[in-house]
Amino acid sequence: MSTTFQLDTSTSRAHPTPTPLRRLSIPAVRQRKADGVTTEPVVMLTAYTARQAQLLDEHCDLLLCGDSLGQVIYGLPSSLQVTLDMMIAHGAAVVRGSYHAAVVVDLPFGTYEASPEQALASATRVLAETGCSAVKLEGGAVMAETVTFLSQRGVPVMGHVGLTPQAVNTLGGYNARGRSAAEAEKIVSDAVALDQAGAFAIVIEGVVEPIAIEATKAVACLTIGIGASNQCDGQVLVTEDMLGMFERVPRFVKRYAEIAGVISSAAESYAANVRARSFPGIEQTYQPK
Ligand code: KIV
Repeated sequence: MSTTFQLDTSTSRAHPTPTPLRRLSIPAVRQRKADGVTTEPVVMLTAYTARQAQLLDEHCDLLLCGDSLGQVIYGLPSSLQVTLDMMIAHGAAVVRGSYHAAVVVDLPFGTYEASPEQALASATRVLAETGCSAVKLEGGAVMAETVTFLSQRGVPVMGHVGLTPQAVNTLGGYNARGRSAAEAEKIVSDAVALDQAGAFAIVIEGVVEPIAIEATKAVACLTIGIGASNQCDGQVLVTEDMLGMFERVPRFVKRYAEIAGVISSAAESYAANVRARSFPGIEQTYQPK
């Protein structure tokens, strides 16, 4: 049975029928991995809007309001221009649109790297103003102190290692990481540092597969792969990529739909109707005085 929604206009919140289960907590998701074994892989997708969240919610354990919204929603050249206010506006929409999945919101570039205190101030705004369950930040060992600082103060943190898009200018592009032995070792030790610092999960993006497998074995917390390995404890994709919204997507993305073509042909039919003045129903329903 598919879910339908009734809008409460006083709160802008859409209430689903049937009523879903209670929202998953971060500890409940974290417990999926016990003694290094994850029996049920964690399902995560990105979501940026309330309606998108409504459609994805029942199928996901985690919804990520990622700073990839810079490119996907705003047409920006990278995630570097994304602001905390943008993340908060979209994160709140995703929380309003979801009931089951725990919502994680990205801390954008420049809002957490300076100090643990800066990160706490940003994370506090994100948690308080969106109602989300956790934040995500990029970087490995260098962020360990901040991850401890946040997680000891009530902020669950998801880390992000390997290809970290906010570091595009130092990495020199969006190519897969870990092709040299030194870089491979560094990515695994970054994951271990975040795990020991208290991260509940770590996104491992764009790395050669053995690194993702080694890191997954080396950490107690969950690893969430994207262009990494199906042996990670869970997977994430940018929803628009897997829906076929864009012509160009990373090679590792499996397209589960071809939504761009659906939108384009709907717009084409609409345009043809407008131009032919052939809107069905208008003539019949209009009652001239
Ligand atoms: O910003 C984002 O959407 C992400 C995912 C791709 C992991 O960080």
